[in-house]
Amino acid sequence: MSDYPQWTISRASAHECPEVLALLLGRAEWLKRRGSDQWSNFADSQERLASIISAGRTWLLREDSSGTAVGTITFVDADSDFWTPSEQAVPALYLAKLATDPTGSGRGLGRLLLHFALYRAWSDSSIREVRFDAWKTATGLHEYYRREGWTHLRTVDVPGRRSGALFSRPVDHSLAGMPNLDSVGFGQPTAFVGNPPRPDIVVEKSPREIAAEIERDG
Ligand SMILES: CC(C)(COP(=O)(O)OP(=O)(O)OC[C@H]1O[C@@H](n2cnc3c(N)ncnc32)[C@H](O)[C@@H]1OP(=O)(O)O)[C@@H](O)C(=O)NCCC(=O)NCCS
Repeated sequence: MSDYPQWTISRASAHECPEVLALLLGRAEWLKRRGSDQWSNFADSQERLASIISAGRTWLLREDSSGTAVGTITFVDADSDFWTPSEQAVPALYLAKLATDPTGSGRGLGRLLLHFALYRAWSDSSIREVRFDAWKTATGLHEYYRREGWTHLRTVDVPGRRSGALFSRPVDHSLAGMPNLDSVGFGQPTAFVGNPPRPDIVVEKSPREIAAEIERDG
C-alpha cells in the first residue's frame, strides 16, 4: 500500500450536490476574507447546481483515505459572451467552477484538476483546446494560471459580467502530449474518466494504463 495520499476524480451524482456546493461556498468565503470581490455574487443555488450535476457535467476530487471531497470541476458549453464564433468553431473543452478546499492549498490539487481537464480533452481526438474564463480582477489567479502553463488570450469586458479573462491551452494528441495526472509532486491520483459521447459508460483506466496499451497494441 502506498504511503502517499491518493485521489480519485469521479463524476458527481445528485446526492453529492451538497459537497460540491460546500466546496464552492468554502472558496467564496475564502475569497471574501482575502478582500476579493470574486464570487461575491455567487448565485448557484442548490437547485441550479443540482441540474448541472444531473446533466453529468460536474466532477469531484476525493482523497481516498478519508473519502473527503477536496475539489471540483465542471465542464460547460462555450459562453458566447466571451468566445467569438470563429473560436467556437474550433472544437474545445470549456471548464468552469474549478475549486479546491482551501485547507488543502499548496498541495497542487488545482493542477491535478486542470490536468484532468487536459486529459479528458486529450482522450477525445477532436478536441483542439481547453479553455475557460476567469474573474477579471483576480490578478493572483491569473498569475497562478500562467505559472501552470496556461495562456492569457485577452480580457473581454461584457456589461454585467465580471468574468472575462480568457485562458486557453492547446491539446497535443501525441502520446508525448498526454497530461501527467501524477504531476502533483506527491501522491498517485487515479482518474476515472467518463466517456463524453456515452456518459453512462465510465472508462476506468488511468493514463498510464492507456499508454501501456497503446505501446503494446500499437
Ligand atoms: C484555483 C484553485 C482551484 C487552485 O487550487 P490549488 O492547487 O489548491 O491552489 P492554491 O489554493 O494553493 O492556490 C494557488 C495560488 O493561486 C492563488 N489564487 C487562487 N485562487 C485565487 C483567486 N481567485 N484570486 C487570487 N489568487 C488566487 C492562491 O493565493 C495561491 O497563490 P500563492 O501560490 O502565491 O500562494 C484554488 O486556488 C481555488 O479554488 N481558488 C478559488 C476559486 C477560483 O478562483 N477558481 C477558479 C475559477 S476560474
